[in-house]
Amino acid sequence: MARTAVISGGGTGIGRAIAARFADAGDDVVLVGRRGDVLADTAARFGPTTTYVAADLETVEGAERVAAHVAETTGSVDVVIANAGGNAALHAPADLDGLARVSWAWNANLQRNVLTAVHLVEGLKPLLNDHGRIVLFSSIAAYRGSGTGSYGASKAALHPYAIDLSAELGARGVTANVVAPGYIEDTEFFAGTMTEQRRATLAGQAHNKRPGAPADIAALTSWLASPEAGHVTAQIIQSNGGALAGR
Ligand SMILES: NC(=O)c1ccc[n+]([C@@H]2O[C@H](COP(=O)([O-])OP(=O)(O)OC[C@H]3O[C@@H](n4cnc5c(N)ncnc54)[C@H](OP(=O)(O)O)[C@@H]3O)[C@@H](O)[C@H]2O)c1
Repeated sequence: MARTAVISGGGTGIGRAIAARFADAGDDVVLVGRRGDVLADTAARFGPTTTYVAADLETVEGAERVAAHVAETTGSVDVVIANAGGNAALHAPADLDGLARVSWAWNANLQRNVLTAVHLVEGLKPLLNDHGRIVLFSSIAAYRGSGTGSYGASKAALHPYAIDLSAELGARGVTANVVAPGYIEDTEFFAGTMTEQRRATLAGQAHNKRPGAPADIAALTSWLASPEAGHVTAQIIQSNGGALAGR
């Protein structure tokens, strides 16, 4: 039976690969992101069961528009993938320095990674069906830092949030989990800052000696969201080719 899946950040990178799997399965897919043109292009490729809402999930108003769209179209939601996020510190204004720059980055990353997820999930909670699935997006940076402090910390904040969601909703058969990827290429995440040398270093840290692909994360996420994964909840699941373990 077709399900309804809402995927934030579904217009690009990892979110787009996840959305493709739901669209291919014939599910109703709702893409969310700030750029309407990017979402429209992705939705057009996926076909008529994919719709989109251009919304900034750092705002309550943006999340309310997503919930209103779901209420008006499918009426309820089965799968919430809170994938939108990124390292806002990479985009800090050039004229900020010192403590002002640090403060900007922490505020921006908490907004970008925590509030985008919390607003989406809490806004959709009243529409979430029994046996629903919630997947939040963390990072290897939550375990080993990212060099900016604020990005990894903002991702780590989602771990206990998933556990609380699982405890709150578990009796209804709902699961809540976190996916924590390592380095994944073919996304907009690094905003043009990735060098060949850095790419080789990150790929070399993985035991399988390659970067991750959006399809790797999409396969894991779609399994977590599947009906058969009903006894896996309150977990933080890493996909990094072994990079965190080292050696
Ligand atoms: N790539 C990696 O190596 C890596 C590693 C670990 C974790 N991750 C995490 O994986 C997730 C997906 O990232 P990605 O690698 O696929 O990078 P990406 O291509 O930059 O995707 C991020 C998506 O989030 C959306 N987004 C960002 N801020 C938003 C906001 N305020 N409201 C609504 N949508 C917003 C973006 O769309 P708009 O710009 O149009 O809003 C974009 O589609 C992120 O949470 C990221 O932190 C990535």
